[in-house]
Amino acid sequence: MRIQLNERLKEISNLVEENSSIIDIGCDHAFLDIYLVQNKNMKKVIASDNKEGPLKRAKENIQKYHVEDSIILKLGNGVEPIENDIDTIIISGMGGFHIVGILKYQKERYQNVKKLILSPNHDVDQVRKEVTKLGFYISDEKLVKENQNIYPILCFQRGKRKYHADDYLYGPILKNHKNPLFIEYLQKEKERIEKLLLVLPKKYIFRRLELKKELKVILKIL
Ligand SMILES: C[S@@+](CC[C@H](N)C(=O)[O-])C[C@H]1O[C@@H](n2cnc3c(N)ncnc32)[C@H](O)[C@@H]1O
Repeated sequence: MRIQLNERLKEISNLVEENSSIIDIGCDHAFLDIYLVQNKNMKKVIASDNKEGPLKRAKENIQKYHVEDSIILKLGNGVEPIENDIDTIIISGMGGFHIVGILKYQKERYQNVKKLILSPNHDVDQVRKEVTKLGFYISDEKLVKENQNIYPILCFQRGKRKYHADDYLYGPILKNHKNPLFIEYLQKEKERIEKLLLVLPKKYIFRRLELKKELKVILKIL
């Protein structure tokens, strides 16, 4: 029996290279990991989570799809359960600040990792800005629409590139490939910021200035 993925996880799986060794931090149900071992040649797959409940769920799903021999389940916080031969880290379905926090902690544990696939639910700009400071550049960016929400998926590789402040907000790659989903994403962001500005009290001067700056960047791209 083959597992079916939602669009977001499917797009993440498309960014995983054949013959790679991955850790999926915050695997929860482990759907992505099950799909990867069923559909790609994977050298190693570690599915990790820092809570017993999700890991139990992951174990049940792994057993249901009979892939116990292909997925290593590990309980642990952030990058702690990583092993030396892992070349790709996947973190998806968490807030941007949380993802950055995980990657900033114990950086030495993932020195051998070449690629990061990150899908933050929000605060995407923080992920671009802070992860590039950790010695990675943005090698790919995707957008996926699901249940009326648009999710960004970012791919990073080891190396340095120079970025403009605007790049962190809406993505150096997305910005240059103005596909219809990106335009829709920007329109939604524009509406969100405009609504926020209407209710945010005037005393929050700096936040208001930031939001107005973001709005300016959106209008420039549109
Ligand atoms: C919303 S689920 C996302 C599941 C899946 N990655 C996805 O994209 O559908 C987030 C999972 O991350 C786990 N998590 C949160 N913080 C974590 C951390 N510091 N280390 C490992 N797992 C963590 C949670 O327990 C939860 O199972």
